[in-house]
Amino acid sequence: MPIYHKLGKIPAKRHIQFEKPEGGLYYEQLFGTIGFDGMASLMYHIHRPTQVMQVLESQDLTPKSANAHNMMMRKFIGFDVEPKDDFLESRVPMMFNKDCIIGVAAPKQSLREYFYKNADSDELLFIHKGSGTLRTQLGNISFEYGDYLVIPRGMIYQIDFDTDDNRIFYVESHSPIYTPKRYRNHFGQLLESSPYCERDYKLPEILETYDQKGEFLIKIKKQHQLHQLIYQYHPFDVVGFDGYNYPWGFSIHNFEPITGRIHQPPPVHQTFQTDTFVVCSFCPRLYDYHPKAIPAPYNHSNIDSDEVIYYVDGDFMSRNDIAKGHITLHPGGIPHGPHPGAMERSIGKTETHELAVMVDTFRPLMITENALKYDDGKYFQSWKE
Ligand SMILES: [Fe+2]
Repeated sequence: MPIYHKLGKIPAKRHIQFEKPEGGLYYEQLFGTIGFDGMASLMYHIHRPTQVMQVLESQDLTPKSANAHNMMMRKFIGFDVEPKDDFLESRVPMMFNKDCIIGVAAPKQSLREYFYKNADSDELLFIHKGSGTLRTQLGNISFEYGDYLVIPRGMIYQIDFDTDDNRIFYVESHSPIYTPKRYRNHFGQLLESSPYCERDYKLPEILETYDQKGEFLIKIKKQHQLHQLIYQYHPFDVVGFDGYNYPWGFSIHNFEPITGRIHQPPPVHQTFQTDTFVVCSFCPRLYDYHPKAIPAPYNHSNIDSDEVIYYVDGDFMSRNDIAKGHITLHPGGIPHGPHPGAMERSIGKTETHELAVMVDTFRPLMITENALKYDDGKYFQSWKE
């Protein structure tokens, strides 16, 4: 997250004595990535953050591949995924490779019984339905429909939902999630040509600080196992932090589309980058305005990447029979494009209200056993005349 942020109390210099009003010292923790080369924050705890009391049994969450060599265009009905009370149990991984896991979730209840940390992955949660507050060690972020929440690996968090009707599209990324490098200048500031700017970020605001002794369960995902560690003190005992590594949010509704006289390629929609996949936002926008423009995309071969599109809202001009919550997979190696009639239908149209999130992975995706339950099984033939 290339913007400096601080919350709460911090000492005048890093790594010096930081005295508690009642006597004694606060405990400093460096929270960084990529060894000591990546983004980092320094946080200050009331208690040492290392006080493990018990290690309980682990649960294996390794995604199970049903098809390791997929060459079929597929459509999954994401809203058929059954809502579940528990935030983690509600997650249904649909596709994965060695770089990421892509899935959907319909959690009904706030996560308050335990704390969660994903030590394998940065998490990108896209809020399709629902609202609430992401509560983390480094502050809280309120969220609503259309928000992306970026939670860096290692962040301890809980989540509150305002109602039990929630739908989330998520990506767990084994490499860090950044804003695209080409949107930033040498100093990290977002350029004038970027489709969003720093003002659009939702930064953590309220720091909840607890000085509580007891038994606090943290479920920690590491190497696809969900470990359970009991800590002696409340994990939200941070009195302040500063740095660049913290959770943040961004609303898809604040993405300012880049349009042109003729069809613009998908990279203009890019929202996030990693070393192994990109995320794009397809937002309501004016169509191409050349007198002979064809607003529908041309057929294209994404030879080097698998393309996942999660459909959020509006009309999906280039597709027939697509609804909210559907997820399509167009595997690399074969071309895809508008459905029959979609190109002709698009001519003369001046705007689109489509809203969708695209994830293009650089390595092929495997389909999970769970995903097959939601696969419509016939999408691959939907381009036939
Ligand atoms: Fe495509």
